[in-house]
Amino acid sequence: MSDEGVGPLPSEGRVALVTGSSRGIGRAIALRLAKAGTKVVVNYVRREEEARAVANAIEALGSKAIVVKADVTNTQEVQAMFQKVQDTWGAVDILVNNAGIIKDSLLVRMSDRDWDETIAVNLRSTFLCTRAALRLMVRRRWGRIINIASVVAMVGNVGQANYAASKAGVIALTRSVAKEVASRNITANVVAPGYITTDIVEELPAGLKERILARIPVGRFGTVEDVAALAAFVASEEASYITGQVLSVDGGMAIGW
Ligand SMILES: NC(=O)c1ccc[n+]([C@@H]2O[C@H](COP(=O)([O-])OP(=O)(O)OC[C@H]3O[C@@H](n4cnc5c(N)ncnc54)[C@H](O)[C@@H]3O)[C@@H](O)[C@H]2O)c1
Repeated sequence: MSDEGVGPLPSEGRVALVTGSSRGIGRAIALRLAKAGTKVVVNYVRREEEARAVANAIEALGSKAIVVKADVTNTQEVQAMFQKVQDTWGAVDILVNNAGIIKDSLLVRMSDRDWDETIAVNLRSTFLCTRAALRLMVRRRWGRIINIASVVAMVGNVGQANYAASKAGVIALTRSVAKEVASRNITANVVAPGYITTDIVEELPAGLKERILARIPVGRFGTVEDVAALAAFVASEEASYITGQVLSVDGGMAIGW
């Protein structure tokens, strides 16, 4: 092994597309990949100003970014987004399926709409974007698919049957894709966060926060950077022998107690 300097950064020169990256975990992943020298497509659906601010931050880090509006549940919009990226940079090497929503309620009270929308944003989008990305990755014989699921996919959660089912679907999709494309030098993995400090967790009632914290062996909520660091590693050249895995970043929650 050479000990002369650190060599090229892991994902330098690659193109990454991070869905729903105008804020939260997606934003942190976009910035982390940019720090590693990756060009980033910042996808958003509603918050253009926030998406542009992420792109500016990426450029301030010395990398390149483009901002693309697309509802990732919509086949035509996903196709148009990938076409734009292909026209701009000719490739998508790293796809992070991060866009996600929650529509919580007990199952007996859950509306058809809350079920369908959650499955569409969390699972259908992963199918649509992965299909579009693989067509480009297969040609270059290199690729990283990183799907953001949740600890809830493994253990279930009261009020989140739709969310848990969508994320469990993401895991099964990922394992199948991993097998389909392994021979093309493309990996597909799941990053499964526990409770990460974003707006949703910040707004939980104090009592509920305490009860959740009691179930996290590490004793704190995760940060978006905790998730981004794992995603950046899975996206790197060094992670080429890791595929079809569910990698938890949850302070030990999924171990059970
Ligand atoms: N925050 C947590 O504790 C936590 C825990 C486990 C898993 N996750 C997962 O991490 C991912 C990011 O979550 P977050 O906490 O950053 O939430 P967030 O709400 O801050 O970010 C989600 C992003 O997805 C985007 N989005 C939603 N619908 C979209 C659509 N149709 N098309 C394009 N973009 C769309 C939103 O605009 C937003 O930018 C989600 O998949 C979520 O399920 C979060």
